[in-house]
Amino acid sequence: MAGNKTFTMIKPSAVEAQYTGKIISIILENGFKIRALKLIHLSSELASGFYAEHKGKPFFDSLVEFMSSGPIVAAILEKENAVEEYRALIGPTNPAQAPEGSIRKLFGKSVQENAVHGSDSDASADRECNYFFSALERY
Ligand code: RTP
Ligand code: MG
Repeated sequence: MAGNKTFTMIKPSAVEAQYTGKIISIILENGFKIRALKLIHLSSELASGFYAEHKGKPFFDSLVEFMSSGPIVAAILEKENAVEEYRALIGPTNPAQAPEGSIRKLFGKSVQENAVHGSDSDASADRECNYFFSALERY
């Protein structure tokens, strides 16, 4: 059975561009509940640990540098079938291929600076929520 929780980050370029409020509005309008929320500037070690599955890929070093270049907004979102529903709302990795109205189409600038992260499975969602939030920081 699909889980009801996913993890998202608003990436540094989108926070810097002041898109945080608009992106959170779209998330809420689409029926997600916010269960945890924080603004945090990742060290390169934390960014590297978060994206460990991509270690060794050609874009890894650049991705870690980008993700630690400024603050991000991290959140736990709840909705039925959350992982799939949220991936549909954000669109594919490349904003140029994202459908009209999707978050990456609206706010993404490039494959790397694609505005937001979304978990790709229930197992990833669990790992990522625990990576960022303690039990005291979520409800
Ligand atoms: P995310 O994990 O951030 O939600 O993105 P995703 O699942 O759509 O894409 P993934 O394959 O997990 O890649 C993670 C992030 O790495 C950057 N990337 N750059 N230059 C490239 O070819 C490339 N490929 C991926 C993007 O920022 C992507 O979101
Ligand atoms: Mg991914």
